[in-house]
Formats: sequence, C-alpha cells, structure tokens
Amino acid sequence: MSKKLIAGNWKMNGSLAANEALVQAMLAGIGQPSAEVALCAPAPYLAQLQALLQGSPIAWGSQDVSSHEQGAYTGEISVAMLKDFGCRYAIVGHSERRQYHGETDEVVATKAQRALSAGITPIVCVGETLAEREANETESVVKRQLAAVIHAVGHCITEIVVAYEPVWAIGTGKTATPEMAQAVHAVLRAQLAAATTNPKRVHILYGGSMNAANAASLLAQPDIDGGLIGGASLKAADFLQIVAAAG
Ligand code: G3H
Repeated sequence: MSKKLIAGNWKMNGSLAANEALVQAMLAGIGQPSAEVALCAPAPYLAQLQALLQGSPIAWGSQDVSSHEQGAYTGEISVAMLKDFGCRYAIVGHSERRQYHGETDEVVATKAQRALSAGITPIVCVGETLAEREANETESVVKRQLAAVIHAVGHCITEIVVAYEPVWAIGTGKTATPEMAQAVHAVLRAQLAAATTNPKRVHILYGGSMNAANAASLLAQPDIDGGLIGGASLKAADFLQIVAAAG
C-alpha cells in the first residue's frame, strides 16, 4: 500500500462563501501531507473546487455520477462533465444514494465501470445497516455489494477505491471500533485477493463518524487505508487533524 487516502464528503452542504473559507483554511494548514487528500463536493461547486485546488495537494471529486454515457437523462451528470471540471474521484453507491434513491448493486457497479472508463477513480461504498449487523449479515452484505463491482469491472478492480461505511455509524457519532472495522476490511481484502494478484493496491477506506479523536486508532489497523469523512470534513481543523493522523 502506498499513501493513505483521506477523502472528505461534504454531502449536501456548503455555499460559495462557506466553501471558499473552508478550502482556504485547509490550504493554509495542510503543508505537504503524507496522505493523499481529496474533497467531494456537490456538483455545482466542482468548478469552484477546480479553481481553488488546482496545483494544490488536494484533489477533488463528485458525490455521484450517472451510469449512462450521455443523452436524455434529465438531472444526471456524466463522467465527461466531471472530467471537464478536473475530478479525479467520484463517490458511487453511498448508502444515502442506495437508501433514498433506490440504487441497486448493479446500478452502482455500472457507475463504477462508467467512471473507470473515463479515468475517474470510483470510491465504491459498501456497508451494512444496523438490522443486517444484528442479523449477522454484515459479511454477506458487503461481499455481495463488492462482488457486483468485481463482476462489472473485471481486472480493472485494482483501479477502484472501496469505502466500508457501516450505515449505523454514518452521521450518528457511533463509530465502529477499530477491531470491528478491521474485521470487515480483512473480509473485503480477501475478496479482492481472489479477484486480483495485487489486492493491496486497492485503498479500503473506513467511513462513519471518523473524527479527529478516533482517526489515529482506526488508521492504525492493517487493512484500513484511509477514511471517507462526512461531518468532520466540514471543519478545516478537524479534517486536517485526520489528514495528519494518516501520515
Ligand atoms: O461519506 C461519508 C460518510 O457517510 C461518513 O459520514 O463522517 O458524517 O459519519 P460521517
């Protein structure tokens, strides 16, 4: 594994003024990070991120992408459009998209494939709900979600990023313990190892209430290669502390 990756997901937050202040504070404090760093913004702000972050150590990306190439898909945003605004990453299959927008494993896999075809790295989210964890289905759920992507992208699987996000830990302040997270990351790594000779090349991020206080212990786990950060990516000081913990 090369550097760890810390990616912020602003979700549906921000404004031109707030983003400018947040990004300037991050740039002022980030120095030369040991980790790779990215911010995933709402689509209307990608041009702003491109202007602010070009030439900086922070990459940027979207929170979703269309599974279609182009055409009559009102409201959708294509990979070519993301490329126009310099996106390196696109989050796909976030649990909020699966839950509120009905995205299936197959749709998520097609989105990952579409992103890869344009040279954009998909950050593919997997994770179980509380009910699934309590029913001892965590392993089967995350394996099913990742299997769909492996099936769709084949040998290109080494070009994706995986984010394990237990749904019950997202935005709740309830973090998986480092041991709980590591156990699932090890399952995902083993699944990748069955699909590629280079499973360590794939970053497997943890997401779910990761913050400045718990980041170091999570990132110390052998199969946790970074974080997908929601709430704490809206505060420059907290986000920078997580980046520093990944060094
Ligand atoms: O994409 C980020 C995750 O959903 C985590 O969000 O850090 O606010 O819990 P959170």
